[in-house]
Order: sequence, then structure tokens, then C-alpha cells
Amino acid sequence: MDITILGIESSCDDTSAAVLRNNVLLSNVIASQAVHMKYGGVIPELASRAHQQNIIPVVDTALREAGIAPNKLDAIAFTRGPGLLGSLMVGVSFTKGLALAHDIPLVEVNHLRGHILSHFIDLPDRTMPHPGFPFLCLLVSGGHTQIVRVDSPRDMRILGTTIDDAAGEAFDKCAKVMGLPYPGGPVIDRLAAEGAPGAFRLARPRVEGYDYSFSGLKTSFLYLLRDRMAEDPAFIEARKADLCASLQHTIVEILLDKLVRASKDTGIRDIAVAGGVSANSGLRDGIVRTGLKRGWRTFLPPLKFTTDNAAMIAMAGYYNYLHGDFAGLDTAPTARIEGF
Ligand code: KG4
Ligand code: ZN
Repeated sequence: MDITILGIESSCDDTSAAVLRNNVLLSNVIASQAVHMKYGGVIPELASRAHQQNIIPVVDTALREAGIAPNKLDAIAFTRGPGLLGSLMVGVSFTKGLALAHDIPLVEVNHLRGHILSHFIDLPDRTMPHPGFPFLCLLVSGGHTQIVRVDSPRDMRILGTTIDDAAGEAFDKCAKVMGLPYPGGPVIDRLAAEGAPGAFRLARPRVEGYDYSFSGLKTSFLYLLRDRMAEDPAFIEARKADLCASLQHTIVEILLDKLVRASKDTGIRDIAVAGGVSANSGLRDGIVRTGLKRGWRTFLPPLKFTTDNAAMIAMAGYYNYLHGDFAGLDTAPTARIEGF
């Protein structure tokens, strides 16, 4: 029997709605919020207000593009957390209202699981390669950096996580001190293509196990800028591409180093990457190249599923639905969710 699920995502600064039939994408609408650009970062209160403005047209468009009337939905899946509380609140409240009005079951989704399960979405005209179980997923976003062991769609374990900044945060903060617009990750990616990755040496963390740390790298980057700007105020402008290339190269090496170790120790060679930073061309190249050397099957998400989107929420919701894991109307959003 076909299951049609509407997914709703509002955990940060993208309002998104998507419809999936089983694991096939029927629509995926994303309204990105431009309001934060001039502040150089997401302002939570402005994000909540923008979600309120966007959510009705976004859901409406997603349903229309999919050709589905709301009363034909089998369930609505929503992001319960982690994320910004006010932003989550908008999505959760709207979802409850829609579910109540049409008597549709609710399914809650952990945003991080959503990113990982984006690897199981198929396009209407194309079956995508899906990782086999167990696989390791490098989950790299603006708020998280984790190596996750995935034994089944609902059975995941975090092997390593960042003890301070996330990889995306390292990109964004370093971009900010160079005067680049927010979010800095994609801008650094673009500029890095013109620069030399070995131009500057930056600090590498020494952290136990599979955990990550990016705050030392960030500090060494700041000191480098401070020292060189003191000698030459035009330094950043003159060496922007080299700075971006060196930073990106270092972040990718740090990420891959632990991922390789986790693969060696567990013997798992199906390796996926997910989250906003998985759009990074240096990381994508690096994983593919490492994978070829080590006999991995590597899985890169299509670019549209790397940053926040509701298709991945509907996908994760589908697996919860199959397990009869429904949410009540009293479900509250949570800013933090420990583990999975
Ligand atoms: O997954 P996501 O959309 O939101 C969170 O759940 O955090 O990830 C957003 C992060 C931002 O830090 C952004 O700079 C980063 O993903 N990002 C990139 C690229 N595209 C997005 N970082 C590096 N290179 C990119 N091409
Ligand atoms: Zn995300």
C-alpha cells in the first residue's frame, strides 16, 4: 500500500514542506530566509517570524506541486528538534492544526536522523543508490559534526561528535572574520577553488577517539589574520582565495581523518555524508578520493538534500510511520535532543 506523507521542517532558517509517496519525492519546497544576511548570522526571533509568514504558502505549494489534497495524506511528519525553539514551535503548531483539521496522524522526526535518511529518497524519474546496512554517516551541519553508525533506518548510534564547534560553524565563523557574507560555507567553497590549499598551515586538533574539535583551528585562523593584518592591512583582501583554500583543506582533512579511523575499526565500508557541509566540493572530492583508495562505497547526497529540507523529514517520518510510531497532539518541540 502506498503511504503519502507531508514533511514540515522549520528548525533553523529554512521553511520547508515536501511530499513523499513511500520514498519517492513528489515535491520539496524550501523558502530560505534572506532576513539574516545583514546580521551575519541567524537571529532566532526574526527566524520565527519569517517561518510564520512562509509556512502556509510553502505547505500549500508543496501539496499543489505534488497534486495531493490534505485529506489524502496518510500522515504529517514534522521536525521536533533539535533546533531553535521559536522556529520549531511554528512548524509544530502549524502541523498540529493541519492534522487536527483533517484528522491525519502525526509523526515526529529528529532533524539529525532526517539528514542521514535523506540517502533513501528516490526521485520520480530516478532510483538513487542507497547505502547498505550497517553504514557510517559523517553528519556535518551548522550545528553538528558526528560520525553515526546506522544499523537500520531507526537504529543509529553516535560514535563521535564535536566537543566544541561544528564544522559548519568553523566555516561560518572564519568567513565572518574575513568579512564574507553569511552563511560563509558556500562562499569559502567558491573562493577556495581559486586558491592554494597548502598556502597556510593551521592548527589540527588532537582529540581522543572519533570526536572532533574545531575551536583550535578557528583560533589559529584568527591569530594568523591578526598577525598578518598587522604587517599588511590588505592581507585578507590579497590572499582571500589562499586563506579559503587552506581553511577548507584543513577542515576536510580533520573530518576525513576520524572517518577513516572509524571505518578501519568497525570494518564498515559503506560511507555516507549528510548535512549542509556535505555540499562542500572539497569534502565531496575528498570522500570520493579516500573511498577509491580504501575500497569504500561512498554516498554523496544530491545537493538539494544537503542543507535543511522537508523531504528528509518526510523520509524519516515514513520509517516511523511503518513502525506505528505516532506523535500525540501534546508533543512539544525540543531545542536539544541528546543522542538519537
Ligand atoms: O544542515 P544545514 O542546512 O543546517 C543545520 O542543520 O545546521 O547546514 C548549514 C551549514 C552552514 O554552516 C553552511 O555554511 C554550511 O552548512 N554549508 C557549507 C556549504 N553549503 C552549506 N559549508 C561548506 N561548503 C558548502 N558548500
Ligand atoms: Zn540541518
